[in-house]
Amino acid sequence: MTATELSFLHRFVPADRPGAPPILLLHGTGGDENDLIPIGEMVAPGAALLSPRGKVLESGMPRFFRRLAEGVFDEEDVRRRAGELADFVAEARNAYGLAAPVALGFSNGANIAAAMLLLRPGTLAGAALIRAMPPLKQPPRPDLAGTPALLLSGAMDPIAPAAQTETLARTLRDAGADVEQHMLPAGHGLSQADISLTKAWMAKLT
Ligand code: MLT
Repeated sequence: MTATELSFLHRFVPADRPGAPPILLLHGTGGDENDLIPIGEMVAPGAALLSPRGKVLESGMPRFFRRLAEGVFDEEDVRRRAGELADFVAEARNAYGLAAPVALGFSNGANIAAAMLLLRPGTLAGAALIRAMPPLKQPPRPDLAGTPALLLSGAMDPIAPAAQTETLARTLRDAGADVEQHMLPAGHGLSQADISLTKAWMAKLT
């Protein structure tokens, strides 16, 4: 396992299963590049893992873009940061010899993954979005034909209410993505069902 800089501080775990798509791990607010490595190993055993740390700090807590209040996003920053992260993915693919990754994003990490799908289509080969919200009020409509997306919402989630995930699911479907959606009896936190559904969905990609 290596921790190098490129344009984002990150961790990289090389693949030991040929053919498994690489996974881009995107943490939630206050997380870092270490957080989701064990989850990545559980849901995509043997896949290469690329795990950057968000560059925006909110009271010392890393995030992937700025927000003005909880659930109110600085959309100019969303656009800029989605571009920066997509550029990092291109750099890392080149440095490590990787195919286009499938994102596994939690909370703020799911939101930046959704922003990359919408703003920089082609960067991600798919995305598992856990507790996601629409990152933009007026999203563009890229061509995401056949791009697999998994959206997992929590019925009791006060931060990313299920209705918001539904709006995002509609946007992705309208763009042609192949969306699988589940509402779990959970809050904002990760649950065991998130792990097992993500693992089953990832297994269908290989
Ligand atoms: C966000 O800011 O991206 C969402 O509110 C999720 C969070 O980070 O709490």
